[in-house]
Amino acid sequence: MNRTFSIIKPDATKRNITGSINKIIEDNNLIIVAQKRLKLSKEKAEGFYAVHKDKPFFNDLIEYMTSGPVIVQVLEGDNAVENYRKIMGATNPDNAEKGTIRKEHALNIQENSVHGSDSITNAEIEINYFFEENEIISN
Ligand code: CMP
Repeated sequence: MNRTFSIIKPDATKRNITGSINKIIEDNNLIIVAQKRLKLSKEKAEGFYAVHKDKPFFNDLIEYMTSGPVIVQVLEGDNAVENYRKIMGATNPDNAEKGTIRKEHALNIQENSVHGSDSITNAEIEINYFFEENEIISN
């Protein structure tokens, strides 16, 4: 049993498909133990994606991530980090497997509907970047 961090991104909130995404999450045995909707500031988005600051797509990524509401989530379950990465599918939806969130819902490599932590260590860091421990309620 562990936790991972998820963001439902602006392309998904704008299209009002957050429920469809949460259904895929819950159908795959992950429990949404914390969730809030917010608008990222430029500073908050830049801090979150600091690891990508030298990438050519960084400025576009920050503009996109601050273009509308996001939903930040903590997901809990067996092998949550690995499980959620499988459910999300490849970063580029063209390469994602059928049935994954990105294959079903993402628009392109940038507007790819969801983010999920890539390791248990990063999951902890990312969860702490958005949530206090008392906001996370396990079953
Ligand atoms: P995410 O998993 O949140 O991590 C970095 C984000 O940058 C990625 O999803 C995409 O939204 C965005 N992005 C845009 N272009 C690229 C690219 N060429 N490679 C990886 N990520 C990209």
